[in-house]
Amino acid sequence: MSDVQTLDRPQAAQSGGMLPSVYEVRTRRRELVDCVTLEMVPLEGAPLSFAPGQFTMLYVHGIGEIAVSISGNPGNGEALVQTVRSVGAVSKAVCGLAEGERLGVRGPLGVPWPVEQAFGKHLMVVAGGLGLAPTRPIIYWALANRDLLKSISIVYGTRSPDQILYAPQLLGWSSTQGLEVGITVDRAGEDWTGRVGVVTELIAPMLQDPAETVAMLCGPEIMMRFAADALADAGVSQDDVYLSLERNMKCGIGWCGHCQLGPHLLCRDGPVFAYPAVRDLMTVWEL
Ligand SMILES: Cc1cc2nc3c(=O)[nH]c(=O)nc-3n(C[C@H](O)[C@H](O)[C@H](O)COP(=O)(O)OP(=O)(O)OC[C@H]3O[C@@H](n4cnc5c(N)ncnc54)[C@H](O)[C@@H]3O)c2cc1C
Ligand code: FES
Repeated sequence: MSDVQTLDRPQAAQSGGMLPSVYEVRTRRRELVDCVTLEMVPLEGAPLSFAPGQFTMLYVHGIGEIAVSISGNPGNGEALVQTVRSVGAVSKAVCGLAEGERLGVRGPLGVPWPVEQAFGKHLMVVAGGLGLAPTRPIIYWALANRDLLKSISIVYGTRSPDQILYAPQLLGWSSTQGLEVGITVDRAGEDWTGRVGVVTELIAPMLQDPAETVAMLCGPEIMMRFAADALADAGVSQDDVYLSLERNMKCGIGWCGHCQLGPHLLCRDGPVFAYPAVRDLMTVWEL
């Protein structure tokens, strides 16, 4: 708890503070049966600029507030883009917002993906389920900076074909030169002609030069652990593996301790971490 007691509160306040800005939903797009993507614009001022991997706290008046990753293009500051799955009271309320309705936004918050670590190397993004939302800004960034990277690959796994997030976009990326996309599902009907199996099976075949690869992972924690193991087995240094973690968040700025994981406050020190910094903590049940 010592980290919590030594917080620099004025600095935290500058990085978003506790006061939400009012945004309006400009467009609402259904992605999956339980997921929507909202494009939101502030009532005053320019939309926030952000780095891939950062998140905001979204507040629905009278219901509550949740942390949501920014899933838009960091190079396109027209609107704040976020994809939300309806699982509980607040996320259901966010998903239920109609175009023109308002909500509160705090942020951007959190430590971004260290995309600069991939300069001159192969970049592999490994995402599971909704984990494609926090990693999509990396892909936008990588496509805009292709000259700085040796190659880009996306390894994506989800439960079933109807749970493939951003499916049209994945299809478009798969025909983009210099970008390899591998998709697998846990189970599928006979009409699915794609791959069935776990995401980790795709990692080794898609690696070009493990010693020169930086990997960024987001999805269920069990998937990320197995993916990190598969990368290590194939020869990727664990220091070159980064992942994004989720814990229940309240303040989002390092004040309340709700998101503590061992010595880390995920909202302040994460959500993106180098794998060695959290590897042992991830194996402790219910930490
Ligand atoms: C850094 C960070 C980024 C996040 N980014 C996103 C994002 O981009 N999109 C998004 O939809 N959510 C995201 N979340 C999760 C989000 O903050 C909420 O935890 C989630 O929406 C549930 O909140 P709730 O209040 O609606 O439900 P709660 O009342 O908290 O939970 C209702 C039930 O759903 C279960 N549940 C909670 N979270 C999930 C989940 N993610 N998947 C399945 N079941 C769950 C709970 O165990 C509980 O049983 C992120 C969380 C963090 C910390
Ligand atoms: S310390 Fe409050 S949510 Fe992280």
